[in-house]
Amino acid sequence: MALTADDQTTQTCLDELITEQERRFLQRQPASARMVERARRSLAGGVTSNWQIARPQTVWISHGAGSKIYDLDGKEYVDFHGGYGAMAVGHAHPAVVEAVSTRIGKGSHFAQPTEDATLVAEELARRFGLPLWRFCNSGTEATMDAVHLMRAATGRTKIVKVEGAYHGHHDSVMVSVADGYPEIGPAERPESVASGSGLPDEIIDLTLVVPFNDAAALERTFDEHHGTIAGVIMEPVMMNAGIIPPQPDYLAKVERIVHNNGALLAFDEVKTGLTVAPGGVTVSMGVSPDIVTLAKSLGGGLPCGAIGGTAEIMGCIADGRYEQVGTFNGNPLTMASALATLTEVLTEDVYRRWDDLRSLMVEGCEGAIDQCDIPAHVVAIGAKGCVTFSPTPVTNYREFLEIDDRFSHCHWLFQHNGGVFLPPWGKAEQWLLSAQHDDDDAGRFVSNFTEFAKAVSDR
Ligand SMILES: Cc1ncc(COP(=O)(O)O)c(C=O)c1O
Repeated sequence: MALTADDQTTQTCLDELITEQERRFLQRQPASARMVERARRSLAGGVTSNWQIARPQTVWISHGAGSKIYDLDGKEYVDFHGGYGAMAVGHAHPAVVEAVSTRIGKGSHFAQPTEDATLVAEELARRFGLPLWRFCNSGTEATMDAVHLMRAATGRTKIVKVEGAYHGHHDSVMVSVADGYPEIGPAERPESVASGSGLPDEIIDLTLVVPFNDAAALERTFDEHHGTIAGVIMEPVMMNAGIIPPQPDYLAKVERIVHNNGALLAFDEVKTGLTVAPGGVTVSMGVSPDIVTLAKSLGGGLPCGAIGGTAEIMGCIADGRYEQVGTFNGNPLTMASALATLTEVLTEDVYRRWDDLRSLMVEGCEGAIDQCDIPAHVVAIGAKGCVTFSPTPVTNYREFLEIDDRFSHCHWLFQHNGGVFLPPWGKAEQWLLSAQHDDDDAGRFVSNFTEFAKAVSDR
């Protein structure tokens, strides 16, 4: 009989499996346990970002090489976490090591441009079909610049974002990111809810929220706030709610509605940019945003963000109407790493290999889902993929909220104890393939997934 997420037997079974797997997890990691205790005394919360906190315990890493990382206890993992989607190059890639080592010997910071910055910008212009670029140091900075730029270019103050989408932690986008009922309002007319503390209502109110895959809701929002919306910031494929692809024509409709209203469209391709295709969703799905933001895999493991745009929009930066600044923008070390990443590592061959590896993982997991009849399906695009624990496709954040997160946590534990590192908070996150993964790595993932699926259905 098929398992369903809401039957009592499945829920009890998941709770039991989680308890058992968490016990194994803790047994395998005594050195991490000691570090957790020590770090609490000097690092707030014992970590360097709240997203590093995992249940049952934060994992402390010692080093990485190729497709693998190693924890403080010496345990090896195939790394599909990829540092939250940033390590498409894999670990210690020889081209990146060479570029960074050579550069650091020549000085690593001047706050003046170096030649590599122009070469990286030229390569991004070629890939994304947008002529002008600037650099910053993170995805948060990139989307903050995008929001400022949309306001500077239009002279309007409101922006629109998609419910459930994460664009970094600056005030304008920390709205309706990961909130539950009842504050979030009706599905077709979501409320703008501050995602966390320290965010003034006056700023939250300037960010309007729409459901993903609902062009009519976007059109209505523009009608209701006529002439006051500077632009829309959105991930063209939603990637902080598993993976939610756009429905056919949705992105083209969004582009038309935004431009008909004299507003601007910013695609946040921080996650998707270099991982789903060489020129991101922007090129692969043929929609023309005014602005694209990048970060994560761009830096080859160093902190890097970028904002690219049309000549008209980026002209606001060029002529000083918007001051895009930062001490470390275009840092020489980061640029050397980004250049090696773009020109020597993420080559056409790698994108083709990702197609093969993705097929292995998708087909392997789908086979186990069918065989064990668990309520799940696989969504994957380019180097990114995830198992969504719902029998039917998820089209927006409200449907995503309905999924029982015990499935993804239990799956995360099975993978972890089986030597595969996935992002904690597995329900929202994805796997990332790197240029250094191979068939055996994909095989280990599928074999752990199969073991998990059997364990769930056997009980
Ligand atoms: C789509 C998207 N935009 C922006 C950000 C913020 O990037 P960062 O963590 O580098 O500030 C993230 C981070 O996960 C993201 O997923």
